[in-house]
Amino acid sequence: MSPPLDAADGRRAGAAAPMTTSTAMPAGHGPELAVVVGATGAMGRVIVQALLARGLHVMAVARSADALAGLKAEVEAAARGHASGLAPGVTPDHAARPAAPTASGTASAAATLHLCPTDIADDRAIADIGAAVAALGRPVRIAVQGAGVATAGGVLEAPTAALVQAVDIKVGGLVRLVRAVEPALRRQSRIVAIGGHYGFEPSAYAATAGVANAALANLVRQYSWALGERGITAHLVAPGPADTERLHRVAAARGARDGQSTAEVLEAMRAESAIGAFTTPEQIAWAIALLCDPQADALAGGTLFMDAGRRKGLP
Ligand SMILES: NC(=O)c1ccc[n+]([C@@H]2O[C@H](COP(=O)([O-])OP(=O)(O)OC[C@H]3O[C@@H](n4cnc5c(N)ncnc54)[C@H](OP(=O)(O)O)[C@@H]3O)[C@@H](O)[C@H]2O)c1
Repeated sequence: MSPPLDAADGRRAGAAAPMTTSTAMPAGHGPELAVVVGATGAMGRVIVQALLARGLHVMAVARSADALAGLKAEVEAAARGHASGLAPGVTPDHAARPAAPTASGTASAAATLHLCPTDIADDRAIADIGAAVAALGRPVRIAVQGAGVATAGGVLEAPTAALVQAVDIKVGGLVRLVRAVEPALRRQSRIVAIGGHYGFEPSAYAATAGVANAALANLVRQYSWALGERGITAHLVAPGPADTERLHRVAAARGARDGQSTAEVLEAMRAESAIGAFTTPEQIAWAIALLCDPQADALAGGTLFMDAGRRKGLP
């Protein structure tokens, strides 16, 4: 049974005590850590691979332990297929792998995947992720909140509970993630939330994404001010529709409303892009990996609009 929660901050009694300041984290002792919530999703899986390829250790977070095990197998298979044999490795728990050359050729501890099954909509996630991060004793270079929410149709029919749940997962989830990793943040650490196009372009058919993603833009800006003094930056990535299972669910809901087939809706949605394209998970992963660069300081508090030219409004 889980230990009780500390009422003040949601950490479990007996959970690893947080370090007191971000600068207390020792530096220069091998790869830093990336924490990815929603790691088993269509985008999360690609983001995990991109961050491992960058030489970061990755802690993959999702509710399903089975799906996390599947992700681990996928990463292992990718590593096996890596011709140079220098691809990132995997550990089933929090144990560190022995030092080995990285893909960049620099000798350091090999990047590894760590699994942390927990529900980001529950305050217990703060203790779960916090303890797993503390056990590794590494600075968190980047924390990504990419948990997906249920698609519940348009604002006229979406259950109010679905709206509340979407905010709890995406917005509450970011708050819980930041509380969990904050002791391990240091200068140039990144907080990244994946929002979405409908947060900036409200539609009649994507109520949960619209509300939760709009709120994320505000929350990210709050973190930018709250943590900026310590050199920590917060960012929102706002993908347009990506050709994933999630998009097919949104298209089905829109089709049901408009009396069209899912295929017709998908075609129409593609045409809403200036370049006639959907965003790809690989493009999102590229942007998130890029945010690890020191130059991304200049993007503090900002939104990366990755909608393949869908927006007409300014900015
Ligand atoms: N796909 C698109 O077209 C699109 C477009 C714009 C924005 N986005 C945004 O991009 C993000 C990722 O989307 P996606 O398509 O990759 O989603 P997805 O394939 O549905 O994956 C969702 C991920 O979130 C995890 N998750 C869901 N609820 C969770 C919870 N309570 N606690 C912990 N993990 C949870 C899922 O694992 P478990 O179920 O095991 O927990 C899974 O790993 C979402 O924020 C979505 O809104 C997507």
